[in-house]
Amino acid sequence: MAYLSSLPKPISQNPFTPQTTTDHSHGSKVVPCRTLVLGSGFWNSQHGSFRKLKIVKSSTQNEALVDSGVKAFDVPLLTCSEVRRSLVFWTRGMATRECTQEDSNFPPGKERASGSPGLQPLELPLGVEKSPYKLENHEGKQQFLAMYSSIFGGITTDPSAMVIPIDDHMVHRGHGVFDTAAIVDGYLYELDQHLNRIIRSAAMAKIKLPFDEDSIRSILIQTVSASKCRKGSLRYWLSAGPGDFQLSPSSGNKPALYAVVIQDQSPFDSMGIKAITSSVPIKPPQFATMKSVNYLPNVLSKMEAEENGAYVAIWLDEEGFIAEGPNMNVAFVTKDNELLTPHFDKILSGCTAKRVLALAERLVSEGKLQGVRVANVTVDEGKKASEMMLLGSGVLVRPVLQWDQQVIGDGKEGPVARALLNLLVEDMKSGPPSVRVPIPY
Ligand SMILES: Cc1ncc(COP(=O)(O)O)c(C=O)c1O
Repeated sequence: MAYLSSLPKPISQNPFTPQTTTDHSHGSKVVPCRTLVLGSGFWNSQHGSFRKLKIVKSSTQNEALVDSGVKAFDVPLLTCSEVRRSLVFWTRGMATRECTQEDSNFPPGKERASGSPGLQPLELPLGVEKSPYKLENHEGKQQFLAMYSSIFGGITTDPSAMVIPIDDHMVHRGHGVFDTAAIVDGYLYELDQHLNRIIRSAAMAKIKLPFDEDSIRSILIQTVSASKCRKGSLRYWLSAGPGDFQLSPSSGNKPALYAVVIQDQSPFDSMGIKAITSSVPIKPPQFATMKSVNYLPNVLSKMEAEENGAYVAIWLDEEGFIAEGPNMNVAFVTKDNELLTPHFDKILSGCTAKRVLALAERLVSEGKLQGVRVANVTVDEGKKASEMMLLGSGVLVRPVLQWDQQVIGDGKEGPVARALLNLLVEDMKSGPPSVRVPIPY
């Protein structure tokens, strides 16, 4: 086991020893929490120590915010066998079982019940070692370089150990939220904007934070650092967590954080594309405004586009106004040369779209745009626009040349889409510190 010691220390909450007390002096819930350290001992008492995290309940939301005064430990970099050990503990339901004092991996604080069988020598969870699954796709252009899991309390670079418990409510109930930030030349682009969004999504999904925001941020940076990835993306999830197969997590599941670093060597594609109107219903605003793992409508909408020779299917909202694509926002250049995007109140508030709106002010000051406007956009207005484009972390700025049977503008990439793409790429490579977080490799 190695530590990434140059970074602030994230908390690794021990999911196996949940204990809750009440701190009456502060009137808030206090969760003693222990760092999960794997190595020669499973819970190494030398490294792990109980600390108190204050869980502060907000008056308006059901979210729990961990006291930001709490600082995190280093995230251990685990070998595959260390991850497997923790998974064995997890799959055996350590939260409810006892184990022998003689076991070198015995977690401190656990008493052996008389007559209890004790834990057998560690075995691999079924399927973990012999899995033929290779964690790469796109003909090898995407590779999964590192994963953090609060379940095994560290980072692994071994693809066969990059797993999520089957009883995690994110898996069997869709009770999870996620976000993605691009890794560009060794920097995380708009990490804080994406982090704010996942925390908002978690609040809407009533998922408590497993760690305070600073610790989550630090864990994410350390995961990218461990991956050594300089170009790709970081995807991360906050989940209601494992514990059982019930519907709600009310039986005391501990929330979980997972993150994976995906290296992407595929060349960036800025070619103009064709769009259709989605026949798959849009999610109602309550769900469209949060980035939950329930992406089935998004998947079906994308598949509908592909089945019809298009790149994307555009959703209209319940009132018939233009909404968004399945993983991107849309924008238009009107006949009056204004940049126009739909309101964000019924769709996902795209970090890229928001950044592009800010960058577009430069085009306004240079006289290349008349203005920037966020408003309801009718289909008629959209189809008659001089330019239409998709905006998102995955597509950046992608011109739409045809929507259904309607050719947009002159059917070619427009000057505003090209200028916005250039501004965005420049921002990703040399923007201010507010949008570029350096990774200490
Ligand atoms: C439904 C939806 N809308 C819009 C976006 C664009 O958001 P961002 O620019 O933050 O990637 C996404 C991104 O994944 C999305 O899933």
